[in-house]
Amino acid sequence: MELKAIINSYDLRKRVFELSLEIQRDFKSEIYMIGLLNGAFIFVADLVRHIKNPVYVDFMKVSSYLGKESSVFNIICNITLDIKDKDVLLVDDILDTGKTLSKVKDILLSKSPKTLKICTIIDKPSRREMPIEADYVGFKIEDDFVIGYGLDYDGFGRNLDFIAKIV
Ligand code: IMP
Ligand code: MG
Repeated sequence: MELKAIINSYDLRKRVFELSLEIQRDFKSEIYMIGLLNGAFIFVADLVRHIKNPVYVDFMKVSSYLGKESSVFNIICNITLDIKDKDVLLVDDILDTGKTLSKVKDILLSKSPKTLKICTIIDKPSRREMPIEADYVGFKIEDDFVIGYGLDYDGFGRNLDFIAKIV
């Protein structure tokens, strides 16, 4: 597999820090952060360490991708944190077609949070099939399949500390 780096680790770290400042500014007090497994595990871990507000963290695992193609949506593991009347930040690795985040957003909204915002490190706007946008986006990219910083191709590449496209 040949990789071409499109975002280096310095730019990633810098952008994550900038996003954490925006998030701190907007959420004035407690943040209920919900990460989507597995892709968001690194991003969540980096974000929370920059944020000075009290942060409660939980994760949800859903299935939506096999290889490069979307498959059936299933909740594999739900949150246990009570988010009713709370300010929630849903964090994922990438906003692609938007199918996953639309479903997860509806599930979280059904739990009556006070507010719900979405944050992804990568956005591929040209791939969108659902009317959904993230409130905080690290980088907008072209329609390339990328790995690194939590993102994988069939399990490979999550541990890279940069983002690369597969060429
Ligand atoms: P969506 O439902 O099409 O928006 O897809 C969201 C999920 O697909 C993400 O959480 C990723 O797990 C996966 N995905 C989409 N594009 C990529 C990519 O370029 N690289 C790795 N995973 C991706
Ligand atoms: Mg994912």
